[in-house]
Amino acid sequence: MNPIFIQPPQVAWASGALSEGPLLRKSTRIQDLAGIFVDEQARQKMPDDLIVYDVEMLATSPAEGELYTGVTHLYPGKIGHEYFMTRGHFHNRREQGEVYFGLRGSGLLLLQNEQGEARLERVFAGSVHIIPGFTAHRLINTGDDVLSALAVWPAVAGHDYAALANGFSLRVIEENQSVQVKEAKNG
Ligand code: F6R
Ligand code: MN
Repeated sequence: MNPIFIQPPQVAWASGALSEGPLLRKSTRIQDLAGIFVDEQARQKMPDDLIVYDVEMLATSPAEGELYTGVTHLYPGKIGHEYFMTRGHFHNRREQGEVYFGLRGSGLLLLQNEQGEARLERVFAGSVHIIPGFTAHRLINTGDDVLSALAVWPAVAGHDYAALANGFSLRVIEENQSVQVKEAKNG
């Protein structure tokens, strides 16, 4: 019998580029992030169509029990003093966790439970982040290069952005050329 060796999808570890699979892509731009950054006026002064982050994911089954795989590329930059970051979300199915793996660049993963208690994990090439259920998560790029992270999450998890309408309880800004963490006023 002649075996058939299936060519699986691939991730280029150094860049996070996915290939060999049907892929879905989504770009999130300055115009999509109204109300997310503390300095809304500074956001409005930036080019609407500037991409803050791209997500590329494998178009795999959405069925119960299946997993999604995707890579986020968060570009370096700031709005006012606040570093570029993802919108951030809880999962619709709150009990569903996720794993992030840092691939390149340097930044932070902001994690926050339903009581509003937040913590920050360093993200770098090789970092592994176990995001438990009931925990909102947001990537923040504090470096000068693209921050890329691979994620694997349950297909049924879904995204709940509305639950964070008042924002996370911490903000990460640049002050005196260093990374500073502040309590959010609205968090
Ligand atoms: C999936 C997941 C990531 C994010 C991506 C963009 O559950 O956590 O793939 O979706 O980093 O962030 P958001 O979805 O917050 O815009
Ligand atoms: Mn998630």
